Amino acid sequence: MRRCVCPGSFDPVTNGHLDVIERAAGLFDEVVVAVLVNPAKQSMFSVDDRMAMLTEVIQHLPNVTVEGFQGLLVDFCRQRDIPAVVKGLRAVTDFDYELQMAQMNRRLSALETLFVAANPDYSYLSSRRAREGAINGGDVSGLVPDRVLARLGARLEGDS
Ligand code: PNS
Repeated sequence: MRRCVCPGSFDPVTNGHLDVIERAAGLFDEVVVAVLVNPAKQSMFSVDDRMAMLTEVIQHLPNVTVEGFQGLLVDFCRQRDIPAVVKGLRAVTDFDYELQMAQMNRRLSALETLFVAANPDYSYLSSRRAREGAINGGDVSGLVPDRVLARLGARLEGDS
């Protein structure tokens, strides 16, 4: 059984994340989407909301599950016997950070990291840009799944 993890903050999940998860689901038997629980980091959506959105948008992928994690990714993976991480690389700006994380994870517990080249349609896209666009009244449809778009709208209406 080939297993991998797709980790992240997913605040909120974007179509770029979903593209990487779908591709990982095509390459591995099981994919765990691991949502970092970091109370020190201010987020727009709670962990429960982020996990609920992810769970909604992976419904068409029977070999994908969603879990929260705290602490080190290597510990999460060791506990579940997951040998590999799959991440998207958007541009050289991602490279330094991702290489450090990958090398540190390998040093800590021989966890392998595989990078997939981001879909060029989403190579500029991040959760932060999607949030910023939506908060300032921009049309972010097509950048986040429709269900996430609806939740973003509801959340912003609630805040106004
Ligand atoms: O979506 P993000 O915020 O870029 O995701 C980053 C994430 C969650 C993948 C990364 O911060 C992470 O794995 N954090 C857990 C702590 C950890 O294991 N760090 C690496 C070794 S020190």
